[in-house]
Amino acid sequence: MGYRIVVAGATGNVGREMLNILAERQFPVDEIVALASRRSLGSECSFGDKTLKTKDLDTFDFEGWDIALFAIGSEATKKYAPKAAKAGCIVIDNSSLYRYDPEIPLVVPEVNPEAVDGYAKKNIIANPNCSTAQMVVALKPLHDRARIKRVVVSTYQSVSGAGKEGMDELWDQTKGMYVPGQEKAPSKFQRQIAFNVIPQIDVFMEDGTTKEEWKMVVETKKIVDPSIKVTATCVRVPVFVGHSEAINIEFEEFLDEDEARDILREAPGILVVDKREDGGYTTPVECVGDYATFISRIRQDSTIENGLNLWCVSDNLRKGAALNAVQIAETLGKRVLKKG
Ligand SMILES: NC(=O)c1ccc[n+]([C@@H]2O[C@H](COP(=O)([O-])OP(=O)(O)OC[C@H]3O[C@@H](n4cnc5c(N)ncnc54)[C@H](OP(=O)(O)O)[C@@H]3O)[C@@H](O)[C@H]2O)c1
Repeated sequence: MGYRIVVAGATGNVGREMLNILAERQFPVDEIVALASRRSLGSECSFGDKTLKTKDLDTFDFEGWDIALFAIGSEATKKYAPKAAKAGCIVIDNSSLYRYDPEIPLVVPEVNPEAVDGYAKKNIIANPNCSTAQMVVALKPLHDRARIKRVVVSTYQSVSGAGKEGMDELWDQTKGMYVPGQEKAPSKFQRQIAFNVIPQIDVFMEDGTTKEEWKMVVETKKIVDPSIKVTATCVRVPVFVGHSEAINIEFEEFLDEDEARDILREAPGILVVDKREDGGYTTPVECVGDYATFISRIRQDSTIENGLNLWCVSDNLRKGAALNAVQIAETLGKRVLKKG
């Protein structure tokens, strides 16, 4: 016997990938329903070789459904996740709404799978921010070996992290640069994104950091270890899919770059591509559609005592969102629900 699964936000970037990944990984599904807003009622979504007709989340009854994967943004989640949870359906949520609630687990299965067991307090499990998810997969095995003190990270985040509208804006603005009369002013992003980079993701906080940067700090502490200090600069770049991060790590103990490379090679969810030659690293276009977090450019930072630099790339719609959510469902299945 398998699970009765709900995918809410099935017409969006993340929801579509959730359906793909559930099918690819042969998640034990007895029944599946695709939900979105009333605007999308009846539109078609693919689930493996099947086609699902999208239903309206607003009128959906969650009674009798096992797990709901949510990818609908914080505002709609606030309205519908408690309804699902109350009906006994466990919500795995991709928005930021519940990530910082101490009674709700924030899970990356390669890092803190045991945290899933805490789902029952609210029947909700949170999925981290895309840039945090890929970073903590790389940090955890290194932290276990040499204890991380501080991380300095700069991100290069693709427009798909801002949903369908973000991708459309890059596409239309790029076209508009060449076709007179089709110029497109910024609307989803704060500044022109075509042929540009924007040092702002999400809103500004009082101290001058952005909310995206704050999320990386707080989520790393909740998932890996509260003692790790993180300082981040998050930047939007004109890439459709795939987030990149330049990560500088300071450890308590010395960690040799060769040993770090070996540790990362053995770590779950990671693929090391690190040839010290032209093109011997991973860029976002190569990671699209993949499950792995790719690590390249591993090298000592000789400006501090115990320092290491690395380059980390992953498909933000997969490890950063849909894949991680499906992995949480798999972990929940194995550890708690035990069906299928
Ligand atoms: N993209 C990423 O890299 C990423 C990573 C981590 C987390 N997330 C989070 O995942 C969520 C979805 O992101 P996305 O990139 O997939 O966005 P998206 O492409 O804009 O899709 C949004 C989805 O939510 C649905 N939706 C919006 N408002 C709704 C409402 N009131 N009722 C029912 N359905 C509603 C939309 O349905 P319609 O098509 O009917 O409008 C659509 O299916 C967000 O919370 C985002 O922060 C995204």
